[in-house]
Amino acid sequence: MKSTRCCTVQKIRYLLATDLDGTFVGDEEGLRELLDYYDSLPERVALAYVTGRHRASAMGLIREERLPVPDILITDVGTSVYSGPDLAEDPGWKQRMTENWDPQAVRGIARGISGIRLQNLPDTRRVSFFSEGGEPAEKLKNALTSDGIPHTFIFSSGRDVDILPEGGGKGEALRYVIGKFAEVDASILVAGDSGNDLDMLMLGYPSVIVSNARPELLEAEGHDALFRATRPCAGGILEAWMHFHGNTADIKG
Ligand code: GLC
Ligand code: MG
Repeated sequence: MKSTRCCTVQKIRYLLATDLDGTFVGDEEGLRELLDYYDSLPERVALAYVTGRHRASAMGLIREERLPVPDILITDVGTSVYSGPDLAEDPGWKQRMTENWDPQAVRGIARGISGIRLQNLPDTRRVSFFSEGGEPAEKLKNALTSDGIPHTFIFSSGRDVDILPEGGGKGEALRYVIGKFAEVDASILVAGDSGNDLDMLMLGYPSVIVSNARPELLEAEGHDALFRATRPCAGGILEAWMHFHGNTADIKG
């Protein structure tokens, strides 16, 4: 019989979908504890990294920090999805992210706003800026809206402004990934620490805000399956995994 790629036939049953900086990465001891716990389980927990970094930057961090290579990599604030053994770009998501996207128009509008500096990125799948506080960011948001430019606006850490194609963002990308790769009743945990994680934390899946989160998350309204960890970074993820799926070991055979 012809062999088939794992993920097209066998869907994910356990999934950790986590931001990298300040969430999965940031507390080495906590990360070791989390990974040792996952190693001790009879069934593998699949990993999806959901990051604001571009692909090369994310791969650099994975190498430097010796992180496990993920099953799924979502980069550029949810505008790109990569999966499989070679982390190949997902053509369906790429198609969605390019069909109604005009990065030149975004750049043009931003040029007229002071206090906004363009981030240096390898391509234009998103257009990101550094803003001197909230005010220039707000002006850009209003200008894009009044000019009728289809986009998604994300503001994080009081500084980072990401202008994404409409329907982009970590939340929508993760929803797409879960729909495509996970079983309907999969055990999922979503983890984050800053503004660009908000939409994925609010999808309604079991989610954790780590204790070191930025104010924009600490202040966010919760939902029934949102856990606020007492530990920072990966230690907080472990705390939340135990809270939601601590009986994982018992239900596997
Ligand atoms: C990461 C990215 C940056 C982005 C920020 C917020 O720091 O490197 O480009 O603006 O996340 O999403
Ligand atoms: Mg982060």
